[in-house]
Amino acid sequence: MGYRDVYEAWKADPEAFWMAQAEQIDWDREPTRALNDTNAPLYEWYTDGMVNTCWNAVDRHVAGGRADQVAIIHDSPVTGTVTRITYAELKDRVASLAGALAAKGVTKGDRVVIYMPMVPEALVAMLACTRIGAIHSVVFGGFAANELAVRIDDATPKAVIAGSCGIEGSRIIEYKPLLDAAIEQATHKPDFTIVFQRDQARASMIEGRDFDWAEVTRDATPADCVPVEGNHPAYILYTSGTTGAPKGVVRPTAGHLVALNWTMKAIYNVEPGDVFWAASDVGWVVGHSYICYAPLVHGNTTIVFEGKPVGTPDAGTFWRVIADHKVKSFFTAPTAFRAIKREDPKGELIANYDISSLQALYLAGERADPDTIEWAQRVLNVPVYDHWWQTETGYTIAGNPAGIEALPVKIGSPTVAMPGYDVQILDEAGHPVKPGELGAIAVKLPLPPGTLPTLWNAEDRFRKSYLNTFPGYYETGDAGMMDEDGYLWIMARTDDVINVAGHRLSTGGMEEVLAGHPDVAECAVIGVKDELKGQLPMGFLCLNAGCDRPVEEIVAEEIKRVRDQIGPVAAFKLAVVVDRLPKTRSGKILRGIMARIADGEAYKMPATIDDPAILDEIRDAVTTLGYAKG
Ligand code: COA
Ligand code: AMP
Repeated sequence: MGYRDVYEAWKADPEAFWMAQAEQIDWDREPTRALNDTNAPLYEWYTDGMVNTCWNAVDRHVAGGRADQVAIIHDSPVTGTVTRITYAELKDRVASLAGALAAKGVTKGDRVVIYMPMVPEALVAMLACTRIGAIHSVVFGGFAANELAVRIDDATPKAVIAGSCGIEGSRIIEYKPLLDAAIEQATHKPDFTIVFQRDQARASMIEGRDFDWAEVTRDATPADCVPVEGNHPAYILYTSGTTGAPKGVVRPTAGHLVALNWTMKAIYNVEPGDVFWAASDVGWVVGHSYICYAPLVHGNTTIVFEGKPVGTPDAGTFWRVIADHKVKSFFTAPTAFRAIKREDPKGELIANYDISSLQALYLAGERADPDTIEWAQRVLNVPVYDHWWQTETGYTIAGNPAGIEALPVKIGSPTVAMPGYDVQILDEAGHPVKPGELGAIAVKLPLPPGTLPTLWNAEDRFRKSYLNTFPGYYETGDAGMMDEDGYLWIMARTDDVINVAGHRLSTGGMEEVLAGHPDVAECAVIGVKDELKGQLPMGFLCLNAGCDRPVEEIVAEEIKRVRDQIGPVAAFKLAVVVDRLPKTRSGKILRGIMARIADGEAYKMPATIDDPAILDEIRDAVTTLGYAKG
């Protein structure tokens, strides 16, 4: 069957389609139905099934003949080590940590925050939680203590599992002081922490609260897998929304297993046993789905890469990893390829490696610009597939189903909607527009298995953010169009979310930090184009009347505030003081026009603008930052 047949078969009978996919998963109690629509427009999948994530990702492979197959390769150019862990070893490690957690009182439904660098123990921690039905929430290492505190307060974890340090190129980033500060700052106090000590920076421990990973796992009684209901949350992953308060995306257990398992063949075209590599970070959804869960559930070998595309040690490091471990399918963000291209424009370093194992490259996380795709195609000489999805969905909404049928690539389009997703382009009134016309990208409800059923402790926000604008649809927050062939074209976000080096960030969140400065009366943050990172945040500050402090000082303080309160990952380095911000007569800041000015793009003067002269001031301010493109 080709793509069209599979898509139509799903559309004709989604229940049969998803029940058939569910057969690939081991159940403790098989579900009698796939979709549960009793609470529509909130939907669940496989509600009456009983299942365990860790069993499906680890134990069943040990039982089924893959005990000695390598499950995880940790390739760490920053420490100069490569470590291999078989499925049998992984099971032992996970069961021990799960036992240690259980012995300290963590049980089904308890939350556990994980704050770890790119080491296999991060996956062990995630799997140990799911083994006993605890709900993990991984926090990306590049976030500051304040962001960690916000997540601790929202998830109210019983425990935090952390690494003592991360390694960013040649810099050691100590995680434990950040964790201590976060716990200090948070209202909720976890009962205990487990710290994985790394030799590069051993953490000092607080007696009675902090426990050493090596010690607690050495003494632990291994824990068995605890079956959970199909709708039990496997994890919460916080992602940026319009405000500084992150959204806790809930991932339901059963649908997650079924859908991710399906994607490994249908989209990434790998068979169990093949080596699959997603060069991302466990702190992001790509890391959850494609470093940890999907490859393991599917019986693949996954790579945990602790390095950067460049500088660890050079722009050939990706090709070295592909060659050394015989990677078949490779997934990363376009920004990583832009970084490599900048250092090795002709891709000459590839000649040093045998990358013949590679069958395709997959790009996601941000818009894949045609230059980058064409360059990758040329130097790798394999198909390059862009695919579009979000933290909320956990896997591809639109992609090229290479394992079903490789469709012709149209550069600039992530290709077509996957089975499960009825993608439509809507006008402001919620009516579908014609092919080729721009609109809001929405997905007809229900979303497929594995996608978010709600936000953690925030059902109203879930409805408001995703369901209310277009009744009967899920609002993706992206705008774009669909052409006559059903290919999707993703153009822009419709909210205040920007994408910096494939990292999703909230300009609203940055504005909240900037506005907290005592000398700042008002501010705006926009995303401007950047050749390497896709977008960068740029801040505009209006100072309080009478403030006579040097503006450079205030700008430097603001840059530091964003770094300290959100984290280095915000990459907030561009800020400028202006007298006024352009607004509509009703007081809405015209951020879209400011971004177009900064990017040197044409714009239409809105009829409602209060004072058009301010736009010249904005253009001048951008020029002083040495940024202006126009
Ligand atoms: N822990 C601590 N700090 C971190 C971090 C982590 N896990 N990840 C990033 N940071 C820091 C970086 O060191 C940098 O700090 P600096 O301002 O002191 O230099 C800052 O956060 C910004 O990081 P980043 O935007 O990643 O920039 P970079 O210059 O370090 O690297 C790229 C640029 C393109 C090489 C890098 O972004 C990259 O490899 N991107 C791949 C994209 C990706 O994995 N996306 C995930 C979704 S698929
Ligand atoms: P995240 O939740 O961090 O994965 O970010 C999701 C957002 O990143 C999407 O809503 C898009 O705005 C953007 N995005 C992800 N993948 C793509 C892609 N292939 N093309 C264009 N934008 C993308």
